[in-house]
Amino acid sequence: MTEEQKRFYITTPIYYPSANLHIGHAYCTVMADTMTRYKRMQGYETYFLTGSDEHGQKIERVAKAQGVTPIQYTDKIVATFQDLWKRLLISNDDFIRTTQPRHMEVVQQIFKTIYEKGDIYKSEYEGHYCTPCETFFTERQLVDGNCPDCGRPTELIKEESYFFKMSKYQDRLLQYIEDHPDFIQPAARRNEMISFIKQGLEDLCISRTTFDWGIPVPINDKHVIYVWFDALTNYISALGYGTDHDELFQKFWPANIHLVGKDIARFHAIIWPCILMAADLPLPKQIFGHGWVLLNSGKMSKSKGNVVDPNVLLDKYGVDAIRYFLLREISTGSDGYYSEEALVKRINTDLANDFGNLVSRTVAMIDKYFEGIVPAPADTPASEFDAELKELALSVGNEAAACLEKMDFPNALAAIWKLISRANKYIDETAPWVLAKDESQKAVLGTVLYNLMESIRISTILLSPFMPLVPGKVAEQTGQTLEGRAWADGCVWGQVETGVKVCKKDAIFPRIDPKSLDLPKEEAKPEKVKEEKPAAKAEAKKETKQTAEAPAQAKAEITYDDFAKLDLRVVEVLECSKVEKADKLLQFKLKMGDEVRTVVSGIAKFYESPEELVGKKLVLVANLAPKKIRGIVSHGMLLSAATDDDSLLEVLQVSKAEIPSGSTVC
Ligand code: MSP
Repeated sequence: MTEEQKRFYITTPIYYPSANLHIGHAYCTVMADTMTRYKRMQGYETYFLTGSDEHGQKIERVAKAQGVTPIQYTDKIVATFQDLWKRLLISNDDFIRTTQPRHMEVVQQIFKTIYEKGDIYKSEYEGHYCTPCETFFTERQLVDGNCPDCGRPTELIKEESYFFKMSKYQDRLLQYIEDHPDFIQPAARRNEMISFIKQGLEDLCISRTTFDWGIPVPINDKHVIYVWFDALTNYISALGYGTDHDELFQKFWPANIHLVGKDIARFHAIIWPCILMAADLPLPKQIFGHGWVLLNSGKMSKSKGNVVDPNVLLDKYGVDAIRYFLLREISTGSDGYYSEEALVKRINTDLANDFGNLVSRTVAMIDKYFEGIVPAPADTPASEFDAELKELALSVGNEAAACLEKMDFPNALAAIWKLISRANKYIDETAPWVLAKDESQKAVLGTVLYNLMESIRISTILLSPFMPLVPGKVAEQTGQTLEGRAWADGCVWGQVETGVKVCKKDAIFPRIDPKSLDLPKEEAKPEKVKEEKPAAKAEAKKETKQTAEAPAQAKAEITYDDFAKLDLRVVEVLECSKVEKADKLLQFKLKMGDEVRTVVSGIAKFYESPEELVGKKLVLVANLAPKKIRGIVSHGMLLSAATDDDSLLEVLQVSKAEIPSGSTVC
């Protein structure tokens, strides 16, 4: 292989600091890290880039709402990104922020180059703009006249804009995709992209005049550059492209893999290659569009309040277990499910039972039968099973590597697990505790334990890109040198260091009692979420009866973060009526900003004339999962105050007319 072929440049998307990172973001970055570590072990010179995408109207608005400048806001949140990556042992070489001058200058330079070439022109943009999604859509893209992403109404807007002649590159791009079957992976994503391009590429609007938080267009500072043009360029600005210190660019471009979620594959597989063609630069070798981490309750989203915070899981289960779960459980190109139950099951079954036990049993037997000194093998096999164990051990490294080359993490791990399971079976087959009773079998016993140690050595080396702390922990117990090893060391038999001392320690992966699981609310399956009727509330209260002398038993203390999961909003009642054949229920039509919600509430007995609530502003728990009540989908819960015996109830109201619907209650 030439020196150039032995280089590997991988990127993750640069994440928006509009909210905290969740387990889905962690999933992508952990995959990229595992791939980088694997390539390093294969002797590649690697470069791994991640970062943050900090411009745009959304960030400008969030910062404003918090009373800080956009950069003050992003500085703070980006620091939490970097902390999370440290905790997840992400070994990135660089972290690019789109607000850094080194990036902004390159974006402006590329804009200018393409403009001077004649592929950027000024015109007027007319499009359907969805304010909450910050996106323009063409007539064709709208669904029933509404935003295709969120379903809300859009506004027809006219704006002076710069356009990039993307249409010019359509045929060249199609040809490129056809000539390079690996360019877009997996195959399903490739097919999606091909059919999208075949529908015809339109020129792309690449500037905005309606907000300021962006990189100014170098030839007209009334405009800022469209966030995707800005963001995609990070992959080369971080390498110093266009500067007089572009050694990294010379060395690592084109990237080997842009790893991105399936939702943004289109930007990477279409817009980015067209920009690069216009700038006369080589295209990345591969865009890999991975699937999503979903919950039983569906997609994670801030508005649903079901976002899984990786920091909480790291505190509870440690980095290796989280990384293992994500890489083992989700087929790379498809969507997969996260649940804490599934995570604990993986920890107990694969990590504690299979791998952890193999290590602790082997170490304990060497300790007991050989005074803790790793024995040398005899010249002859210990059993009829030795050959099979060795043959498998010699094959799993290659099998796992073949899977990793295709970004198939679950099957790479499954290959390594074949050896771990085979080694556990070998213990049962050779029954070392029986051999230990017969002094004449000492050499045979030594060979058995050597073979087990070799299986541990090999599997640990192969596991190191996935779980970076494992080699150190196993090394401590086995006396072997396992950190910083080459992948090839995990593909050969007979490298166990004998004569070294083992050291019995706590289990590498302690078992977790599934009964101790305090499942967070977001894992509750939607069908199990019961509407809390006032009557039921009264029942519950009876058990903790309050009196003036004995105040209500307080609920468990929560943190501000727990409280912040609630999305409480001011809503205006547009309609309110009794639900037919359900005398306890009222049906509301509520205005929440631009959105109209239907909510069913069991408070009919307190409102003889429901119309009296029309026009009132109430408080809604807006991020409660939707629920069907008497065939009506109710989306949210109205807050009310009630006496303990439930004889009196009043919905909470906001009396100031100047507070518009949609406002946050905090
Ligand atoms: N800033 C853009 C990317 C610009 S790259 C030049 C962006 N940021 S994002 O923060 O919204 O999303 C970043 C990545 O996270 C995307 O690849 C997206 O697919 C991924 N994920 C967001 N939620 C996810 C899951 N639930 N599961 C897996 N990945 C998900 O888009």
